[in-house]
Amino acid sequence: MESATLVRLIKDAVRSGDRVWADLGSGGGAFTRTLRALLGAEADIYSVERNAATLRQQRKAWPVEDGSPRTHFVHADFTGALDLPPLDGLLLANALHFVADQIGALRQLRHYLKPSGTLAIVEYEGRSASPYVPFPIPYDAFERLITEAGFHQPRRLTTVATRYGRGMYSATARLSLA
Ligand SMILES: C[S@@+](CC[C@H](N)C(=O)[O-])C[C@H]1O[C@@H](n2cnc3c(N)ncnc32)[C@H](O)[C@@H]1O
Repeated sequence: MESATLVRLIKDAVRSGDRVWADLGSGGGAFTRTLRALLGAEADIYSVERNAATLRQQRKAWPVEDGSPRTHFVHADFTGALDLPPLDGLLLANALHFVADQIGALRQLRHYLKPSGTLAIVEYEGRSASPYVPFPIPYDAFERLITEAGFHQPRRLTTVATRYGRGMYSATARLSLA
């Protein structure tokens, strides 16, 4: 995906003053690098990935000009206990669709966010279940899930065209009503 598309998907999820984000199920790190570009050099970014080889690759490919000690590569399963500081935001880009118990996972992830924190998601619209997307989350399902998990203010940010399904959307939800 082109970097302009990555930026378009998540730029409105990030708020000025945000200093700590996590990218859960970060894969090759495309969105982690986008978060770095949006948040700036002073932010702490936690890149969480359960596949050790994928995480090693991501670390190796991390741009040398961003040798920031503030990028933290974490080998972990985000459905388990994570050692993270209170987050301004957490991103699940094409990662929550691998989880069968999505409400349970979202309820647990709430605890990592500051009260003012943002949950951001990137998922496919209009895809059927497959080994690539075992538990699809079209936007209307996201709204239901996020409300049941105790979040507020679900909001679709944008949708971009993709080869599969009816595009890829980004959305946010907040912990507090404010
Ligand atoms: C389709 S890739 C998406 C990668 C990246 N977020 C992106 O959109 O470019 C999904 C990634 O999430 C990781 N993943 C899936 N479930 C996970 C879990 N429970 N904990 C940590 N990583 C997970 C997979 O290993 C894979 O690297």
